[in-house]
Amino acid sequence: MSRARLAVLVSGRGSNLEALRSACESGLIPADIVLVGSNRPHAPALGLAHDAGIATLASDSRGCGDRAAWDRAFLADVAAFRPDWIVLAGFMRQLDGSALSKWIGRMINIHPSLLPKYPGLGTHRRALEAGEREHGASVHFVTAELDGGPILAQVRMPIQQGDTPDSLGARLLPLEHRLLVASVAFLLRHRVELLRGCIWLEGIPMSEPLQLDEGLALR
Ligand code: GRF
Repeated sequence: MSRARLAVLVSGRGSNLEALRSACESGLIPADIVLVGSNRPHAPALGLAHDAGIATLASDSRGCGDRAAWDRAFLADVAAFRPDWIVLAGFMRQLDGSALSKWIGRMINIHPSLLPKYPGLGTHRRALEAGEREHGASVHFVTAELDGGPILAQVRMPIQQGDTPDSLGARLLPLEHRLLVASVAFLLRHRVELLRGCIWLEGIPMSEPLQLDEGLALR
């Protein structure tokens, strides 16, 4: 079987990118990262990609004026690398629906909350302020709605007494890495389709998101 082609879009540090890269290298994910793209030309993640010999694409989205036009041009450049899947790994931009349409069902995002709770920014702080006892991360299909597409998989962790947004974020990050790697590996090993706004797994509609267990398995 030929290896899948992944494009990874980033805006910042790149720890999720690094988790994906190392999983591709070890064979945990049967794919190659063919492109790392960013809307922030100085994102540290681009440096990681460059050092790993991965092609990079950088285009500053700040002050771009026509948002939808930037999104369409950027995704056209990404498409030139012929990815099978696009993975948003800390890509801090909401893409326009018209630009996204051809990627719906082939683009996923990792978000640091138990969606549908806390889409958008400040998720750790908002979970604490709401008195949640549990927090986590979600991998979802990308649609035009911010962090609102169908949820493929989640990882959960308890909130502890004395937790701060920083402590929550630090404890969640390694779980995010495992969730993202497991989700991409799952997508490449199963028949997962997005049909009529619902995720179908091996021809059967999924009733709830998969959950990451203590190991690396999604159930
Ligand atoms: C992660 O917390 C991810 O869930 C969120 O942005 C952060 C990116 O971190 N969307 P990194 O750049 O992968 O280290």
